[in-house]
Amino acid sequence: MNIAVFASGKGSNLAAIIRQVKSGKIKANLALLVCDQPKAGAIAKAKRAGIKVALIKRDDFPDKKSFEAKIGEALKENSIDLIVLAGFMRMLGSELVCAYRGKILNIHPALLPSFKGSHAIRDAFDYGAKVTGVTVHFVDEKMDHGPIILQRAIKIDRRDTPESLEAKIHKLEHKLYPEAIRLVLEGKLKVSGRKVLVSA
Ligand code: GAR
Repeated sequence: MNIAVFASGKGSNLAAIIRQVKSGKIKANLALLVCDQPKAGAIAKAKRAGIKVALIKRDDFPDKKSFEAKIGEALKENSIDLIVLAGFMRMLGSELVCAYRGKILNIHPALLPSFKGSHAIRDAFDYGAKVTGVTVHFVDEKMDHGPIILQRAIKIDRRDTPESLEAKIHKLEHKLYPEAIRLVLEGKLKVSGRKVLVSA
């Protein structure tokens, strides 16, 4: 199984996945990092781990279609079986989603369907939510919407700040995402409509 991780930022989830691949807990080949931001920390993390990097910047293409066609080429060239979005701050278009249906995962730092979008940790904090969490889901055509694989909650207590909450969310993400990837790779998931059934 060849995995492509897509990231736009620091790459702490990428690093967590790299650790699990190295330790043999995730049995797959991290074949490619697709990144749209030249300054993303994820690039250095991938290079250090010997993972091939495809830096594909939206600005270099006249439209979303040609940008995504380039991403599609990189996926084909590297025989990618599974796409793992880890802080990739763009919505994938329908062509990529159709071509890899059921083979694209995303992690979101809130309990979907609450607090969709790119500032979910801050949004939950500012809203005064008492509970938030992390969701790993399959990707479909709508934002932060596909069937939910794993979801775990975190309490927001009086002493939390946006920073302490972010640290707690990241710690949980680094545990939950590898767990979800393992379930997918081991063929333990069955999708029925919006429901994802996990077999023992
Ligand atoms: C993660 O918290 C991830 O859940 C979030 O971006 C962060 C990336 O961190 N994704 C979204 O908000 C997507 N809607 P990382 O670059 O350190 O892995």
